Amino acid sequence: MKVLLIGGGAREHALCWKLASSPKVTTIYTSPGNPGTEAIKKNKNVNLATSPAILEFAQNQSIDLTVVGPEKPLCDGIVDLFKEKGLSIFGPSKQASQLEGSKLFAKQFMYQNDIPSATYEVFDDLPSLKRFLETAVYPCVLKADGLAAGKGVKLCFDKNEAIEFAIDCMEKRRFLHSGTVMLVEEFLEGFEISFLVLAAGKNYIPLELAQDHKKLLEGDKGPNTGGMGAYCPAPLLTKSQQEIIESTIIKKTLVALESQGNPFYGILYAGLMINSKGVKVLEYNVRFGDPEAQVILPRLKSDLAEIMLGVSQGQLPDKLEWDNRVALGITLATEGYPDHPNTGQIISGVLNIKDDHDVHIFHAGTTRKGSDLLTSGGRVLTVVGMGSTLNEARLKAYEAANAISYEGKNYRKDIGRGSH
Ligand code: AMP
Ligand code: GLY
Repeated sequence: MKVLLIGGGAREHALCWKLASSPKVTTIYTSPGNPGTEAIKKNKNVNLATSPAILEFAQNQSIDLTVVGPEKPLCDGIVDLFKEKGLSIFGPSKQASQLEGSKLFAKQFMYQNDIPSATYEVFDDLPSLKRFLETAVYPCVLKADGLAAGKGVKLCFDKNEAIEFAIDCMEKRRFLHSGTVMLVEEFLEGFEISFLVLAAGKNYIPLELAQDHKKLLEGDKGPNTGGMGAYCPAPLLTKSQQEIIESTIIKKTLVALESQGNPFYGILYAGLMINSKGVKVLEYNVRFGDPEAQVILPRLKSDLAEIMLGVSQGQLPDKLEWDNRVALGITLATEGYPDHPNTGQIISGVLNIKDDHDVHIFHAGTTRKGSDLLTSGGRVLTVVGMGSTLNEARLKAYEAANAISYEGKNYRKDIGRGSH
């Protein structure tokens, strides 16, 4: 099987590594990939800038399966483009991807289908938003409607902070047209989990539960980031909570999409807030989480390539097989991440770590310059440790993380501790 993989982060490195482990896969092309994917024997990095270029490549190379890592190509409709040509691609259609592509679409969808989420108000002009923020209840959450690379959500603790973010989005166009419409949401408290399912229409199989640590600083303080670390499985739900989530959120979402003529094929990720009053949806994503993928995929024993090919053709596997061990992943970020990452620093130590059964180093913001490996993005690497207990996984991951160095290396020391 020849596979084309789209994306270049640590999530895609983990996908590429897992796909390469399938005996059915002969060749992988990753666009654009990174130095981590480049080192995988079956893989070759390629650079395909647009969806038509990706399609042309897939046709010319007789690709059997295309896998899309990030949300942007999904929201732009790459799956529709491939399906029109009869090519197999793993991921949801453009319309189903609106669950992630538009926060307003997702909110309206949840309200229409009685799926629990925070209350909200919508604004399409700055003066009315500012008037509302003058007397709003704080904290509250401001969200730019469209995609904003994970930066379009701000938890605001006072009026000044909220108005400044509103101006950034609506007047200064920090996220271009993604800030044309803004939502103000009720602030939810509790602990967060990432509930991912493999879906084909209204049928699905839950993946094992992961918890991502979204805040930059230890003790869940500081600004939100793309994710500073994660672990899987996260033993945070009772059986009855899991059943409630499946019946009030997952099934309803998939059934509603199908009845609207937009059946969902791919990974549906519900970001959930859990507290003593119950469970609410914070967001939907239409792909694997990053860093969740880096801790979920090393635990998956089933053949991912076979599963993805099946789902792209409408077929769910009977079940998924999991490794019993715990996986814990630490994001190594740069100084200044998330707002002003300072890049271009030489990374040392990566090659000294044995990437084996127990430790995996997944690359994200790294680049090669001659024989050097340099930082090139805010999140540089995800370092994953596996162990028979959470503690063992944590020790392995931190031992490896501590053996890597570059100027400004920044990471949380409390991944897998006390987030619930
Ligand atoms: P979103 O992209 O909508 O999930 O938001 C990113 C992050 O912001 C979430 O993972 C939460 O940590 C936080 N967040 C979003 N909405 C809320 C909310 N209504 N209350 C509290 N935190 C939120
Ligand atoms: N880890 C959060 C996300 O992938 O959106």
